[in-house]
Amino acid sequence: MNKVLVFTIMASFCIFCTAQDITLPQPQKTGGKPLMEALSHRQTTREYSDRELDNQTLSDLLWAAYGFNREDKRTAPSANDKQEFILYAVLKSGVYVYDAKENTLIQKVKGDFRAATGKQDFVTVAPLNLVYVADLTKNDAGGASANVGFISQNVYLYCASAGLGTVVRGWYDKEEVKTALQLSATEEPVLIQTVGYKK
Ligand SMILES: Cc1cc2nc3c(=O)[nH]c(=O)nc-3n(C[C@H](O)[C@H](O)[C@H](O)COP(=O)(O)O)c2cc1C
Repeated sequence: MNKVLVFTIMASFCIFCTAQDITLPQPQKTGGKPLMEALSHRQTTREYSDRELDNQTLSDLLWAAYGFNREDKRTAPSANDKQEFILYAVLKSGVYVYDAKENTLIQKVKGDFRAATGKQDFVTVAPLNLVYVADLTKNDAGGASANVGFISQNVYLYCASAGLGTVVRGWYDKEEVKTALQLSATEEPVLIQTVGYKK
């Protein structure tokens, strides 16, 4: 049976599972390494331990990535303030959508779909793969590709500050990701970023 078919069956089955959202603690917006130190540590990591991220770390990381730092504006800029990205968090327990206003991870699919997010071995070892999904009703994929870089760099800098490893990834099977995350026709995965503790 091919991989796409397996993920389709798992995803369909899981529609009937009870959703288990994760209510995150408030993000800690102070502390961390000074900016110049974080920049000095920014780097790509490809070897991870399987240690889970706790909810405080998840909250801080997601807020740094794409949270609101003003009434309706975010930590990452976007051309014409389109804010077209939806952050999907693929954890061992399921696929979640980050609701930045409610500070909650909304479970969309139950089950471990980390393997569907990439071709490199570490994607199933590291606890988190963030999938940056463009809402094509707000912007086209071409326009979105510039905006996603800012979100990714926020994650790189947060990880450098918090002592976590990360790697942004363009090497994945788009159709496999769309199936596993149950994306609609107007949702496009643009880039993926793995996060976890370094081995
Ligand atoms: C758009 C983009 C796509 C990338 N795709 C991958 C990838 O699929 N797999 C991977 O291991 N690294 C990927 N990288 C990470 C680069 O290989 C890495 O940034 C580069 O080697 C420089 O290393 P540094 O980040 O430690 O400075 C990607 C980086 C960017 C910016």
